[in-house]
Amino acid sequence: MGAEPTAHTQASLPDEEEALLRALDLSFDYGHGSVLRDVALTVRAGEFVALVGPNGSGKSTLLKVLLGALPPGSGRVELLGRVPGDVRDRWRVGYVPQRPSLLSEVPATVEEIVSAGRLRQRGWWRGLTGSDREAVHHAIESVGLGTLAGRPLNELSIGQQQRAFIARAFAGEPALLVLDEPIAGVDAESQRRFRDSLVHLIRAHGAGVLLVSHELAAVADVIDRVVVLKERVVFDGSPEELAARGVSLGVHREDLPLWLEDLG
Ligand SMILES: Nc1ncnc2c1ncn2[C@@H]1O[C@H](COP(=O)(O)OP(=O)(O)OP(=O)(O)O)[C@@H](O)[C@H]1O
Ligand SMILES: [Mg+2]
Repeated sequence: MGAEPTAHTQASLPDEEEALLRALDLSFDYGHGSVLRDVALTVRAGEFVALVGPNGSGKSTLLKVLLGALPPGSGRVELLGRVPGDVRDRWRVGYVPQRPSLLSEVPATVEEIVSAGRLRQRGWWRGLTGSDREAVHHAIESVGLGTLAGRPLNELSIGQQQRAFIARAFAGEPALLVLDEPIAGVDAESQRRFRDSLVHLIRAHGAGVLLVSHELAAVADVIDRVVVLKERVVFDGSPEELAARGVSLGVHREDLPLWLEDLG
C-alpha cells in the first residue's frame, strides 16, 4: 500500500464533508472484460442508499472495490475520507458479504459471533463491559435470534445464520454499514425487524447505509437514493425519481429486476 496516494493527495475529489464513501470514475475487470465502468457513487452520513441491478451487473464487485478488498483498475475510492487501505478505524465500517464465510470448524455460537462485532468496535483486548453485553443482547433480539443465542451457528438454518451476521454488524454500531443481499431468503417478520434496526442506526447514530438487494419492498419507505448498476450507473436518484421513470419499489416487488431492465 506504500505507493497509494495519501488522504492528503486525494483532496482533488470534490469536497463533501460528510461523505462516508465516495467513488469516482471507477473501473474494474477480473481479466475477462469490463465489470465496472466509470462508476461514481457517494454515501453520506445519515443516508440510506440502495444499490440494485441484475445478476452479474457488478454489485458485489463494486462493494469489494469500495471496501478495499479489490484494487480499482482505474478511478478512485475514498472510504471514511481515505484510500481504503489507509483507513485506520476500520471498525467504523460494517460489512455483511453476500455469502458470509462460515468458519464451520470453529463452532462459534450466535452470541460469540455477535460479540465479535462488538469487540471489533471496543478493541478485543478490553473485553466486553456490561453495556457492551447489553448491545450484543439487543442486536441478537433485533434479528429475532434471542432463543438461539447459545446455539452454534453451524447448526442454524441459512436464514438464521444470515440474521446472525446482520446482528454482528449492528452490534458494532458502524458509521457506515454495507450490506450485500442480507435479506435474501429471510422471512417477512425478520425483514421488518431488519428495517427497524436500519432506521435506528441511521436516525439515532447518523450512520450511512449502502444496501444491495433485489427485495426492496420491506425498506422502500426509508430509502433516500436508488443506484441502478449495469456495469455503469444507469440511474442515481430518489425513489420518487425512479417512480417517474416507471419503477416503483413498493409496487414492483419481486418483479423489480424485470422493471429495471428498461432503464439505461
Ligand atoms: N472472482 C471472480 N473472478 C472472475 N470473474 C468474476 C469474479 N466474481 C465475479 N465475477 C464476474 O464479474 C461480474 C460481476 O459479478 P458480481 O458478483 O459483482 O455481480 P452481482 O451484481 O453482485 O450479481 P448477483 O446479483 O448475482 O449477486 C460477473 O460477470 C461475474 O461473472
Ligand atoms: Mg452479488
